[in-house]
Amino acid sequence: MLRIRVLHGPNLNLLGTREQSIYGTLSLDVLDSAITKLAEELAVKVDLRQSNSEGELVTWIQEARKGYDGIIINPAAYTHTSIAIRDAIAAVGLPTVEVHLSNIHQREEFRHRSYIVGVAIGQISGLGPMGYLLALRGLHDHLIASRRQKKTSAPATSQRAAKGSRK
Ligand code: DQA
Repeated sequence: MLRIRVLHGPNLNLLGTREQSIYGTLSLDVLDSAITKLAEELAVKVDLRQSNSEGELVTWIQEARKGYDGIIINPAAYTHTSIAIRDAIAAVGLPTVEVHLSNIHQREEFRHRSYIVGVAIGQISGLGPMGYLLALRGLHDHLIASRRQKKTSAPATSQRAAKGSRK
């Protein structure tokens, strides 16, 4: 079973009440339930966490190297400031999708830069809560495709090894 860690950054605990005209009225609990429901349909195990602390997010990314196949992260404001989160994602090397509820490229200029996107397989921005569900589907497909690729390339290698051993 594929395992994906889903990380929500600072202030996302206030979803539903925070700047509703930008972030909508859905609470984080309801969003997490929708992610969990889709994960069950896809037979993916998800581990959902929120933190207001950069260090905690870095630790959770580092820990994901043991037992996780990929990461979905909305780094929130740390998107625009955190080299530490970028480095953690690069260090663990797990396929990572960056998600934003709002379209960061249409907002203030300081939100246009993401330190994370350069180490992510993709970024989804501006689609609201649906962005997380698309990220889950996209990451799931990506992980299944790379598993398949590994399987199909393995026999070729062992065939070559077998031929080599007959020499
Ligand atoms: C956000 C966009 C960030 O710029 C902002 O700091 C957030 C939320 C989003 O989901 O749209 O806190 O990541």
